[in-house]
Amino acid sequence: MKDLLFQRHRRLRYSEGIRSMVRETQLQAEDFITPIFVVEGENIKEEIPSMPNVYHWSLDRLDEEIDEVVSLGIPAVIVFGVPSSKDEWGTSAYDDEGIVQKAIAHIKKREPNLTVIADTCLCQFTDHGHCGIVQNGKVLNDETLDLLAKTAVSQAKAGADIVAPSNMMDGFVAAIRFGLDEAGFEDVPIMSYAVKYASAFYGPFRDAAHSTPQFGDRKTYQMDPANRLEALREAESDMDEGADFLIVKPALSYLDVIREVKDFSGYPVVAYNVSGEYAMIKAASQNNWVDEKSIVLEKLTSMKRAGADIILTYHAKDAARWLLNQ
Ligand code: PBG
Repeated sequence: MKDLLFQRHRRLRYSEGIRSMVRETQLQAEDFITPIFVVEGENIKEEIPSMPNVYHWSLDRLDEEIDEVVSLGIPAVIVFGVPSSKDEWGTSAYDDEGIVQKAIAHIKKREPNLTVIADTCLCQFTDHGHCGIVQNGKVLNDETLDLLAKTAVSQAKAGADIVAPSNMMDGFVAAIRFGLDEAGFEDVPIMSYAVKYASAFYGPFRDAAHSTPQFGDRKTYQMDPANRLEALREAESDMDEGADFLIVKPALSYLDVIREVKDFSGYPVVAYNVSGEYAMIKAASQNNWVDEKSIVLEKLTSMKRAGADIILTYHAKDAARWLLNQ
């Protein structure tokens, strides 16, 4: 025995005090962005069935949510709108009086220091549910760029601190950067959904945002889950076009991609922990099949360990509460 040569790794694990001294990744409420779904109407706080504890809010009830987010030390929200009317061109996305624009202005008035991010896309606002203009069953790229730029400008006008384009048209960062600069918003950063996969993990979100495509799927613009090198090309072109943050989405099945994008770019990287990833854990924990708190904190820690600087997650409020009380 005495002559055996081996390393005693367990020395650093025997007490919580020592474990915390050598912990390499720290999770904190400052890392989180929490999503908010806003709807037209009054006195609405309605739970989204496939996303327990996530709600649709009308603007007159929104302060309840905002105040809670702020009290938990979460620094940023991302606003998703469910409009009352949709058309072929997604007109309500770039209406200065649209639901997202009204929500942004409302939140900034209530909490000027809370960072408000606007999701810049058309799919919630088009009657066909695609992220761009559709002609003969095809989602047109260049014709869509103008509308995206208009949407971003109107969100910035409403007071958005950051715009987050999620549509995956080619050239969307360049078009939006140009549009924002031309309108005098050169200081508004772009958090680009640079690496967004065509994923089955978005299912619950599409229920929540009423944005399921009415025909076909998003595979002609969102990425093939099998691809890794393509993620780096997507990240690179968004960097060239002027993105300030890079989002990788989804997160949990794509931790390898988060690491590569971080190492490759050196940019602030955001992990988008999407609706299906949330719903799976919620469902399992409601059945007592997993311990929700431990599994959520482990999952979020793994995203930071993989290289994410920021985590966009529906668990943000719960996780912030657990981190405060631990
Ligand atoms: C809009 C958008 C989607 C999500 C965020 N922005 C849906 C999609 O691309 O189908 C998904 C978010 C989630 O699942 O949590 N384009």
